[in-house]
Amino acid sequence: MAKSKTIFVCQSCGAQSPKWVGKCASCGTWNTYAEELQQPKVRGGSLAPSAAHLPKPIHEWQATPESRISSGLQEFDRVLGGGFLAGSLVLLGGEPGIGKSTLSLQAALSMAGRKVLYVSGEESGPQISSRANRLSHRNPDCQLLTETQVESILRHTDALRPDLLIVDSVQTLHTELLDAAPGSVSQIRETTAQIMRFAKRSGVPVLLIGHITKDGTIAGPKVLEHMVDVVLQFEGDRHHVFRIVRAQKNRFGSTSEMGIFEMQGQGLKEVSNPSALLLGNRDQRLSGTVTAITLDGARPLLLETQALVSSAVYGTPQRSATGFDLRRLHMLLAVLEKRCGFPLASKDVFLNLTGGIRIDDPAMDLAVVAAIMSSGADVPVSSRVAFAAEVGLTGEIRSVSRIEPRLREAEKLGFEQVFVAHDQLQGLDLKGFKIQISGLKRIGHLEQALIK
Ligand code: TYD
Ligand code: MG
Repeated sequence: MAKSKTIFVCQSCGAQSPKWVGKCASCGTWNTYAEELQQPKVRGGSLAPSAAHLPKPIHEWQATPESRISSGLQEFDRVLGGGFLAGSLVLLGGEPGIGKSTLSLQAALSMAGRKVLYVSGEESGPQISSRANRLSHRNPDCQLLTETQVESILRHTDALRPDLLIVDSVQTLHTELLDAAPGSVSQIRETTAQIMRFAKRSGVPVLLIGHITKDGTIAGPKVLEHMVDVVLQFEGDRHHVFRIVRAQKNRFGSTSEMGIFEMQGQGLKEVSNPSALLLGNRDQRLSGTVTAITLDGARPLLLETQALVSSAVYGTPQRSATGFDLRRLHMLLAVLEKRCGFPLASKDVFLNLTGGIRIDDPAMDLAVVAAIMSSGADVPVSSRVAFAAEVGLTGEIRSVSRIEPRLREAEKLGFEQVFVAHDQLQGLDLKGFKIQISGLKRIGHLEQALIK
């Protein structure tokens, strides 16, 4: 087969060169040249539109009926927006060892009755087979292929017509059209483009696994994330209980859902009631620990929030937050200092959300403030009390969204009292709840309510 012509293109300004160069002569940037396929020039384009591309009223376009294929894992489906959509391209990114291959293999094996093709360029057949034996599910229609050349993968997929194609990983793929090494910008872009064209043409959904660089972005060009329909991140700390899948981009669903798993000896276990695990031992409460009622997508989540306030050893006090936005913590500390006169200027403050979960819900604010106050004054907060409200810059306590499901979840888990914003009480049917609901106007009132 005749090799197509390739050229080198500066990824920053678009300048072209027949050879690779380190510094772009046109824009002066370094290391921006990547190999690309030379596109044939289109000559003499006519201005007359082709019949296939005429505009027509939006309602006359035939909407394709939505057919979703379940991944067999409820938590995974939740993040996908209900399963894999025909012809969609899903990119799953995550750090090495976090469990991307395990999650995809487990999905492939859980999809009983569905044909799945699992293509691996990272591990050998026996390695994957022994991993599959550890997992509890079996799917006789799951085929395994160890291959890295994209043309060959797509030929096999075309012949097999699976319900789902899984490719582990995009960084190992290469196309025969380019000389660049697998994992390089041009290879990743070209192979993904080929897979995408295949998915759209055949309707086979594809799950692509991608590596993550040190700074947490998916390795390869940013354009990869633009090309695919769904970008998922698999995250969590190896030392923490939970592994969490969340959507960064989803053309067919919400990006606020998370799927929670626990890594065990037999693979990933779905965690459908994370609050019960996250709350830990609630009988012995020490100062600095309070419970926040937050949301993960549509699902309420009760989360233990811990703060430690101690005298600063060095001149500049340290502030650190795990799972919570550090800038937001700084803001809350400033509000506490200014509006309550709570002395924090010479204190180190550490904040930690349990389970290695990262939350950016404003309803966490009140719990964070309560935890800091509790630790600062060394007075424990009752373990039967939970918090859900935002704190404003003037120290006012503000309402949060979806308060009813939050209150119901707290009630279900045996909490006795919830502190919310005073404004939130209007429009709430207080008689419908057994749990005591207390409204607060300012964070100054929180101090009286807690520290007796
Ligand atoms: P892996 O899925 O290969 O991660 P990735 O593809 O993201 O690099 O491996 C995940 C880790 O999980 C690995 O260190 C071994 C561990 N593990 C278990 O604890 N239990 C299991 O059943 C399996 C299959 C893996
Ligand atoms: Mg892997």
